[in-house]
Amino acid sequence: MPPLVPEHTDAHTWAVQRVKVEPSGPLEGRLRVGGAKNSVLKLMAATVMARGTHVLRNVPRITDVDCMVDLLGSMGLEVTWLDASTLSITRPDVITPEAPYELVERMRASIVVLGPLLAVEGRARVALPGGDDFGPRPIDMHVSALEDLGGRFTTSHGFVEAAAPDGLVGTRLLLEFPSVGATENAMMAGVLASGTTTIDNAAREPEIADLAAFLNAMGAVVHGAGTPTITIEGVEELRPATHTVVPDRIEAATYLAAVGVAGGAVTLEGARADHMEMLLAKVVDMGMEVEADDGGLRVCSATRLRAVDVATLPYPGVATDYKPLVVAMLTTAEGVGIVTENLFAGRFRYVDELVRMGADIRTEGHHAVVRGRPRLSGAPVRAPDIRAGAALVVAALGADGATVVAGADHIARGYEDFVAKLAGIGVEVTVLD
Ligand code: UD1
Repeated sequence: MPPLVPEHTDAHTWAVQRVKVEPSGPLEGRLRVGGAKNSVLKLMAATVMARGTHVLRNVPRITDVDCMVDLLGSMGLEVTWLDASTLSITRPDVITPEAPYELVERMRASIVVLGPLLAVEGRARVALPGGDDFGPRPIDMHVSALEDLGGRFTTSHGFVEAAAPDGLVGTRLLLEFPSVGATENAMMAGVLASGTTTIDNAAREPEIADLAAFLNAMGAVVHGAGTPTITIEGVEELRPATHTVVPDRIEAATYLAAVGVAGGAVTLEGARADHMEMLLAKVVDMGMEVEADDGGLRVCSATRLRAVDVATLPYPGVATDYKPLVVAMLTTAEGVGIVTENLFAGRFRYVDELVRMGADIRTEGHHAVVRGRPRLSGAPVRAPDIRAGAALVVAALGADGATVVAGADHIARGYEDFVAKLAGIGVEVTVLD
């Protein structure tokens, strides 16, 4: 019989492809929420802007972090794990300001090195990210903001090349949409631009505020991160800093959804209720109980969930990353819920997999209509991406019979010790290979 948890939960060696999930519940116990994937990748990118040794704490051991370690390494930085969740990153005097295709292809978020490299080196060469399972993900807003700061761009042979030989100059930027990545690239570039940079219609995600806190610890002067207007007074030079990564609200939401489907009461240590307000209001409407305290969030579910309608929006709205989890909860809730996607076209690919498990879901454009059923029926399914993979595991908790989720390597991109954490709160989960 294969072990309940993989022998190596270390992300470097955790090459799990398939997990088998049995109907489980009620769940109970506690687990610790790790550092946010969507923050740490940007914090790591920011380290290229200051020579010396940075220390990042509460770093999740996930394969996307490994990918960013490889990217920084390919540019000439030295990255080492000081312990299970602490990274030391040393930025030498000379680096290669380039992100190769092999790494950008593995992880689109690599594009976030563009602003920092341009600002500190006066040039950058970054492979163009292609489309992905969410459909096309353009970078026009990133480029336009950096152009407004004085960067000159050319595109050839699949690379975008940026130059600002005389340095960037602060100005007012107005984003057409509060894009997370464009806000981050512009904010990082702005800290080394001369004069004042203002970003209007900026994204407000907690990860943006976390990045601003790190930049300020490095000597930057950034005000207003977490609001729609960010103001940056440019400085000539930054210094290395030590920073603790903000907790991962999407990871917390995943275990919350598991409790919603399977029932029970679980404490999510470190979860920040103030970063998840809109989602928490929704799950309370669905019949869950949530209680925040300084140490985290206690989530309970004692009855079958009730269906609600949910629309994804930029923060503080319900995040698009929560959506597969919400759909998974609705599949066995009482009633009909309409889920509307407002950020990414085509982020419904996992729905076909849920339908294979007996879910009653119809999609029409940006909408999914989910008719709750008392139980799903376990089936072999495939994870199309990180969050959808986690959502299939969550849905499996409310199915009769076992579900085998293939493509579990997607899940490891964003979840540290996923199998062990689930097993720790009572989920019957087995690694198959
Ligand atoms: C980040 C998150 C992702 C999350 C998303 C929205 C990371 C690593 N990823 O992605 O998990 O789902 O925020 O909360 O942090 N767009 C353009 N042009 C651009 C940039 C974006 O049209 O130049 C569009 C995108 O196609 C998308 C929308 O804007 O439709 C939002 O994208 P954005 O906020 O930029 O998401 P990411 O930063 O890529």
